[in-house]
Amino acid sequence: MSKKRLVVGNWKMYVESPKEAEKFVKTLRKKARAFQGTEAWLAPAFPLIAPVAVALKGSSIKVGAQTMSVHAEPAHTGEVSARMLKASGVSFVIAGHSERRFRGETDEMVRTQLISAIAAGLTVILCVGEEERVPDGSHWQQVANQLSRALYGVVPGTKLIVAYEPVWAIGKHAADAMQGEDLEETAIFIRKILSETLGREAVSRIPILYGGSVEPGNAAALLKEGGVSGFLVGHASADVDSFIEILKAVRPAKK
Ligand code: PGA
Repeated sequence: MSKKRLVVGNWKMYVESPKEAEKFVKTLRKKARAFQGTEAWLAPAFPLIAPVAVALKGSSIKVGAQTMSVHAEPAHTGEVSARMLKASGVSFVIAGHSERRFRGETDEMVRTQLISAIAAGLTVILCVGEEERVPDGSHWQQVANQLSRALYGVVPGTKLIVAYEPVWAIGKHAADAMQGEDLEETAIFIRKILSETLGREAVSRIPILYGGSVEPGNAAALLKEGGVSGFLVGHASADVDSFIEILKAVRPAKK
């Protein structure tokens, strides 16, 4: 398992204005000592990337994007390419989030994003997760397919993070999140698929995050029992105090 501890805030559309975003970043930077040892990354909506990147200047907190275009050529109204993101100070991009898959993003599109993001020098957070857990176990196959299809042709050594986000657990409350032991079992399964796809060597360098109703109240237990390197946090990342509490819960214990 990767030793890196990482919490990524997926702001979705929760944080709306540059003013709100700048205030958040200011507080986060001021309290950074409280979560030393845990990496904090933020994924604001497109219009907030530039102000957040400016507010983060000189800090180790990274800014990323929640999605990107599958197109690289310029004649695509309303789209934002990996290269444009890179030029705006972005260092990572989330690909294949279920809220985008629901809107028609296919495995093939996720793979295209992944390949252009890597070519642009971005780290990719690849989201996978089943819609529901079914007694016949077919949800495992759904996760395996999402992984192997997105990673087809991707070379080992790529800057990749996998975020396991079971759709049924997203956007609820701590009590509805996955249980630690189920998460551990799934994380083992994901590592097995990654090992088959990218090779054993690569797996140790790929952090696995969990996402789906992570809140300050369940973060420590999920990390301890779930065998993951950290979290992709939605609603609870939009409030700076709760984001900091989660970062603190993930912080490695002092020796
Ligand atoms: P949530 O969202 O923390 O609000 O459940 C997680 C996500 O969708 O990335």
